Amino acid sequence: MIQENVDLTPYNTFGLSVKAEYFSTFSSVDELRKLLRENSDKKLLVLGGGSNMLLTSDVTGLVLKNNLTGIEVIEKDEKTVKVKVQGGEVWHDFVMYCIDRGFGGIENLSLIPGSVGAAPMQNIGAYGVEIKDVFEELEAYEIASGEVKTFDKAACAFGYRESVFKRSLKGKYIITSVTLNLTTEHKLNTSYGAISSRLSEMGVTDPTIKDVSDAVIYIRQTKLPDPAEIGNSGSFFKNPVVSREKFEALQAKFPDIANYPVDDAHVKIAAGWLIDNAGWKGKTLGNYGVHKNQALVLVNYGGASGQDIFQLSEDILKSIKEMYGIELEREVNVI
Ligand code: EPU
Repeated sequence: MIQENVDLTPYNTFGLSVKAEYFSTFSSVDELRKLLRENSDKKLLVLGGGSNMLLTSDVTGLVLKNNLTGIEVIEKDEKTVKVKVQGGEVWHDFVMYCIDRGFGGIENLSLIPGSVGAAPMQNIGAYGVEIKDVFEELEAYEIASGEVKTFDKAACAFGYRESVFKRSLKGKYIITSVTLNLTTEHKLNTSYGAISSRLSEMGVTDPTIKDVSDAVIYIRQTKLPDPAEIGNSGSFFKNPVVSREKFEALQAKFPDIANYPVDDAHVKIAAGWLIDNAGWKGKTLGNYGVHKNQALVLVNYGGASGQDIFQLSEDILKSIKEMYGIELEREVNVI
């Protein structure tokens, strides 16, 4: 059923109060098809968990919330398990479902806000793992034809917080399900410093997937604001990749600049460090600002507008460009 003038506050993790001209959920592909056929004249915005977008004004046209649910084990043996999950499931609930059943591979991606359908869109990643590492295929509804198509890993063209769905196919498909190759015999990734330190604090020497998930949850809870309490969208900017020469010149000026090597010619720089070192961390402008523990996260303390936060992001972009000669890119979708 289509509703009019719906407040989107509960549907975006920034907690921004904007209105959708028309709004509906869909719980099956048939329902989605019917809604799109009957409203083909309207502009369309599809929401997953609303955890990676900044709504800067009321939304004209039709806003659809993906409520496709269900988890299915497709194949399982003593080493691997293939699981198909519907796009409207909450990502973290799905991770917990897997941990409870001993399915490994996504424990490092615990507590990432958002929906399953949105996860491949930006190739979610944390603590040394990205969804592409366990990805088998996804199904997506093509808006123009009304057909559901299958995309394998190559067709998704995954990159750092990137996929074909953010680039050439932007706005053309709605991800309806995702199939992942998980493990029943696990290969843990505890290489990320904060995970190994937390595991030793926990007194764990031979970690299980549950231990790794607990460590990740602990790290995220101490560093990142909980969107249920303080509106935010996780990392607002991407970590920039620069040439090694550019990096070395910056390092000569800023010896403790946080970085991750990419390859011989490129270095990824921690945008959080750049923004922090430029003095933005914890900066509060009335009811919004830069988070006090992670400068990459912009926050809405309640009642801020998307325009306020957008302007703050513009000011940060300008300051980073002036200070380091680097143009940061936003990770969130500005709508
Ligand atoms: N740092 C600072 N000051 C800050 C924030 C970070 O100096 O205010 C330094 C840290 O000390 C560290 C480095 O920057 O040396 C990196 O920080 P962190 O480990 O927090 O990771 P990040 O690069 O800032 C990325 C992802 C996160 C992901 C973490 C862990 C991006 C844009 N962000 O953050 O993803 O959880 O690594 O893997 O790649 C997200 O995408 O929404 C997200 C939260």
